[in-house]
Amino acid sequence: MLGGVTIVASGSATPSQCLSNDQISLRVDTNDEWIKSRTGICARRVIGPHESLTGLSKQAGEAALRMANWNADSLDLVILATSTPDDLFGSAPKVQSLLGANQAVAFDLTAACSGFLFALITASQFLKNGSMKRALVIGADQLSSWVDWNDRRTCVLFGDGAGAIALEATSAKNEGLLGFTLKTDGNRGGCLNLHKSKEFLPLIEEKSHQKGGFSPIQMNGQEVYKFAVREVPEILESLLLSNKTKPASLDWLLLHQANQRILDAVAERFSIPQSKVLSNLANYGNTSAATIPLMLDEAVQDGRVKPGDLIASSGFGAGLSWGAALFKWQGPS
Ligand code: COA
Repeated sequence: MLGGVTIVASGSATPSQCLSNDQISLRVDTNDEWIKSRTGICARRVIGPHESLTGLSKQAGEAALRMANWNADSLDLVILATSTPDDLFGSAPKVQSLLGANQAVAFDLTAACSGFLFALITASQFLKNGSMKRALVIGADQLSSWVDWNDRRTCVLFGDGAGAIALEATSAKNEGLLGFTLKTDGNRGGCLNLHKSKEFLPLIEEKSHQKGGFSPIQMNGQEVYKFAVREVPEILESLLLSNKTKPASLDWLLLHQANQRILDAVAERFSIPQSKVLSNLANYGNTSAATIPLMLDEAVQDGRVKPGDLIASSGFGAGLSWGAALFKWQGPS
């Protein structure tokens, strides 16, 4: 018999360096008006010399543990959703150790901008099947390391950040995660990539090896835009239908923060008023796996999201990958 899951706390952390649109225009041929009108983004945060992705992840995780009033030792699981770890072998164990979550198993999960949603669903399976009781899901990315800062078509879009949520197993009758769908389509993956570099170095005579390292992000913006405005409403619609939930009964729409025009298009499709659409991408840009928990934490902290609120969330991005979840914000007991 499967149990349920509740989302009891959130936390977030962002780098101290803030880069405005005007400041980016000192580097590439762009301007505040273009960026704001096409994306809704005004500024983004960039990890500086005294910060790290692991450090931000630890801060976000700690904040969620504080809100939950949990000892780190009580965690069974830490999942770090990231495509930009400090260590390609995985950064989650380091985060686990910094948190002092000594009893937890920790691993990275890579699904680009859908990573947080994929990690939330992955963690919830361990809790629902009864093998674990408490989990921390962190979404964190540092795309500032992987954009080409001379490519105005991509560098204006992304920023760095981390967000976390604390999840607890509960009875089926108190289920807080009401439904989900996850999807990938590798056939369409060529429109958004962070490929391994192609350079081969000689090893011995007639043998070579591929050098480690990655090429900057490559994106076909229009294809990605079309993908998002087509697939996100579709997946949300089928999720709401299968849960017999009308869009009007949602308290919040919490989408991956990629572009305000995408948020507006999805909201319009469901006739959801702007006042119910959570958006903070003006301040942070697209922080990839971090956007959803970063936004959720902001809205919890400022009192917009209240215990019992019903939230429809959708993540989407490279892969291509996308997903949706319908959940209630429980908050700490
Ligand atoms: N500043 C000024 N001009 C820019 C610019 C910038 N930062 N970036 C592109 N341009 C120019 C282009 O060079 C082009 O000029 P041209 O017509 O002279 O060649 C013009 O603006 C239009 O470019 P285009 O790429 O067609 O713009 P667009 O309307 O598609 O908007 C995006 C570009 C990136 C904002 C939009 O495609 C988008 O949001 N896509 C989704 C991206 C995304 O969310 N990715 C992450 C998903 S997880």
